[in-house]
Amino acid sequence: MPKAQLRTAVYPGSFDPITNGHLDVIERACRLFDRVIVAVAHNEQKAALLSIDERMQLISSVTSHLKAVEVATFDGLLVEFARNSGASTLIRGLRAVSDFEYEFQMALMNRRLAPEIETLFLTPSEETSFLSSRLVKEIARLGGEISPFVPPPVSKTLKTLFATRRKKYPRTRNPRTITRRK
Ligand code: PNS
Repeated sequence: MPKAQLRTAVYPGSFDPITNGHLDVIERACRLFDRVIVAVAHNEQKAALLSIDERMQLISSVTSHLKAVEVATFDGLLVEFARNSGASTLIRGLRAVSDFEYEFQMALMNRRLAPEIETLFLTPSEETSFLSSRLVKEIARLGGEISPFVPPPVSKTLKTLFATRRKKYPRTRNPRTITRRK
């Protein structure tokens, strides 16, 4: 089928790193669209753990079983990227009520900017709906087990990265307790 006739969706995000929750949303989107572009946003205001290339490589490796998936990066407005990609829809995962306000605001603003592009919210599975890249990074940084929350290549990358950092910058402060004598 020519690319112009394919039903194309863009799934944008920071993906720093991709989690099982993101993967769940991508798999759901692949059941609805012929072409799903997972688009890693360049965001200079947000300090990232992984480079754009590392994030794209990881997404590409964990979605290799999904033929509809393409991995891209974009700079600038999301709706411009979607238009230039021939996408009719933006996909966002909605995990909980706490996501709603931000997502609603973004969806309405994107609609103002590009009325022809719809935002579609997909609900991830209950097993993944508590996950976030931020929490995964925090757990990995503190030496916790992240393998239940991210695909194996992501777990391996984060473990290696933080193990190297811990070796280079060992923790100097020990937890302390003040005991009061009675
Ligand atoms: O995974 P995130 O960090 O919640 O994703 C946010 C993202 C990348 C989707 C959002 O920041 C975005 O769309 N950035 C591109 C710039 C843009 O179009 N801004 C206007 C949004 S209304």
